[in-house]
Amino acid sequence: MAADRSTVETDRPFVARMTKPEDDPAAFARAVDALDRGELVAVPTETVYGLACDATNPDAVARLYAAKGRPAINPLIAHVPDIEAAAREGELDARAERLGRAFWPGPLTLVAKRGTMCRVTPAACAGRPTLALRVPAAPLMQALARALDRPIAAPSANLSGRVSATTADDVIADLGPAVAVVLDAGPCPIGVESTIVDLSGEPARLLRPGGLARAEIEAALGAPLADPPASAAQSPAAPGLLTSHYAPSAAVRLDVGEVRNGEALLAFGPVLPDGAKRAVAVVNLSPTGDLAEAATNLFQALRRLDRTGATTIAVAPIPAEGLGEAIRDRLARAAAPRPTD
Ligand code: TXA
Ligand code: MG
Repeated sequence: MAADRSTVETDRPFVARMTKPEDDPAAFARAVDALDRGELVAVPTETVYGLACDATNPDAVARLYAAKGRPAINPLIAHVPDIEAAAREGELDARAERLGRAFWPGPLTLVAKRGTMCRVTPAACAGRPTLALRVPAAPLMQALARALDRPIAAPSANLSGRVSATTADDVIADLGPAVAVVLDAGPCPIGVESTIVDLSGEPARLLRPGGLARAEIEAALGAPLADPPASAAQSPAAPGLLTSHYAPSAAVRLDVGEVRNGEALLAFGPVLPDGAKRAVAVVNLSPTGDLAEAATNLFQALRRLDRTGATTIAVAPIPAEGLGEAIRDRLARAAAPRPTD
């Protein structure tokens, strides 16, 4: 498979199938070398695929923003191998220490003040005084951050505003020629991005629900997480919260009780909405109603239904508890009014 892809038309991207560095040391070395030279590398994490670059290199960061078509006001997450490395880049207070020790490595991103020794180039933080830090559990991203010995900036490996990528094929479809190396470890196990908690001020705020459920974080913190400031949803000052995002080409209709003619159906659980037989295509996120399974399947399901050419994707009701909060958040953004393009 990898050889097929890397021999068509251009030599980009070089694709290697592996789940850990030892599977293909030469390909891993090629990925480290590409990062070191300021190139872009697609890497799986436990959440989604990331489009990685050296976070300390302004040229690499500029290349990354250009490849994604990402607005320069939207800052990136810096990936580091452990909490000690995180503490060298950001100011981790007692709350951050507690959450980092409880959940890193894993699907949690903490926003802290930039440290005085922070090496992340200011452009990667969109000029803000804060820095988003994550210690990923997936072995390839872990090992890359350790081998490079510099923080790795990695947004989700999709075109800006579109559906995130949870397979290497989806990354290549969106970003192929811009990427030097793709490490392909198969589909990502969690399937939605990390949960982002802002600890740069008081109180701690949940900026983005994600792969770690709110209740687990609140239990470790011993306090509830506040919502983002009310004005944040549309404000360019809070780009992480831009409303329209994760958008397929099709329109998205949420919490449907009945499927309409011509719609594709994104189902959840054993009971389908009325009129399900009318749907031009059906994908069930989890026939048993398991929210973790639904999260794993979410982005691939949206991409699949979009490829059917249906004008609208009708989404069955999904409960808001556990990972359901992240799933509902992504679907609400997919359904939000889009900027005219
Ligand atoms: O699971 C994940 O978090 C994936 C994998 C690749 O690690 N990454 C990811 O990155 O989802 P991205 O760029 O697609 O989303 C990062 C979010 C953006 O919404 C951005 O606005 C927000 O984090 N963010 C980054 N730095 C921030 C900061 N200093 N303050 C507030 N929000 C920030
Ligand atoms: Mg993203």
